[in-house]
Amino acid sequence: MDKRVYLCLAHMSGQEQKYIKEAFDTNWVAPLGPNVAGFEQDLEQFIGNGKYVSALSSGTAAIHLALVLLGVGKGDEVICQSFTFAASANPIVYQGATPVFVDSEPESWNISPELLEEAIQDRMRVTGKLPKAIVVAHLYGMPARMDAVMEIAGRYDIPVVEDAAEAMGSSFAGKSCGTFGTYGVLSFNGNKMITTSGGGALICPSEEKKKRAVFYATQAREPFPYYQHEHIGYNYRMSNICAGIGRGQMTVVGSHVAHHRHTAHLYSELLADVEGISLHMNPTDKYDSNYWLNAILVNPEKAGTDYDAIRLHLDEKGVESRPLWKPLHLQPVFSDAPKYLNGVSEKFFEQGLCLPSGPYVKDEDIHFIINEIKTCMKK
Ligand SMILES: Cc1ncc(COP(=O)(O)O)c(C=O)c1O
Repeated sequence: MDKRVYLCLAHMSGQEQKYIKEAFDTNWVAPLGPNVAGFEQDLEQFIGNGKYVSALSSGTAAIHLALVLLGVGKGDEVICQSFTFAASANPIVYQGATPVFVDSEPESWNISPELLEEAIQDRMRVTGKLPKAIVVAHLYGMPARMDAVMEIAGRYDIPVVEDAAEAMGSSFAGKSCGTFGTYGVLSFNGNKMITTSGGGALICPSEEKKKRAVFYATQAREPFPYYQHEHIGYNYRMSNICAGIGRGQMTVVGSHVAHHRHTAHLYSELLADVEGISLHMNPTDKYDSNYWLNAILVNPEKAGTDYDAIRLHLDEKGVESRPLWKPLHLQPVFSDAPKYLNGVSEKFFEQGLCLPSGPYVKDEDIHFIINEIKTCMKK
């Protein structure tokens, strides 16, 4: 192949520069301005459910602020899905709290509700108190089993932070990912469903909570004519320039999601007769993944090869692919954290690979990728 095929490259609509130019022309080159408000409005409309959105400098910042707003602090424990990117858990440590990792279920690949309840009960036995929050992720755009997660969280009255960094446009039982929990998080990093070059958003339950998020995101400055600070603040607001990119991207988010879903169906069709390789598809019709990254599991006994041989082969042929997230309970930095395991995420890590899925991935690229996977299996 004479070009390289990437997992998910940023793709511009052409409208972005109009908003950026406007920002320059009006000298709103600052972490506030009309693009920030406009982008927030677009996001609120997109996710619906009466939520309020605060545009921030990253998804990680949004997770951090969610924990700040929930009052997570020193001595607290926060349950976190183990099978996710480190950014889901790092902010727990920023707050001086301890992450407690819970394994995944095989259907959605996200937090196992059964194990979640086991973990809550065991932490109560061990520490005498409830975990302060639950961080659940929708990996690769696939929704977690949110009806069960919310039922359990509700029964113990533990707030949920939904890490929907990868799940913009996904829904569970018809409801947008990011709108189930007390707080939801989106990421607009360069490789996400839409990008602001770097950025994120916090989905809030009320206007008052949104105002509080903005307060903490802008150094927690109290309303005095001089600089008065009564809380520790952060510099987490999105700039008006980045928000201009976001407004342009909102004009193509629908077509981006549709394209990712199209790639999933084509991969599924072409992999249907391939023994030993399974594609991560919606487990039931309650799930509506955005298929941000299409992911496969390679069973080495049945496939006659493993995920890493396929990764190396594809790389040689000009195709980027990537192992699945290494579960956080296996990360050296979290080696002391309590964990509740069932072997599911470790198996995924040993067998899984993400395949190109973004707006620049064409049908012929997917045919080429599947043919090369088949070639690798025959080697
Ligand atoms: C699951 C998950 N959580 C959180 C993040 C953090 O988002 P950001 O890179 O915008 O800080 C990412 C992506 O980078 C992610 O994939």
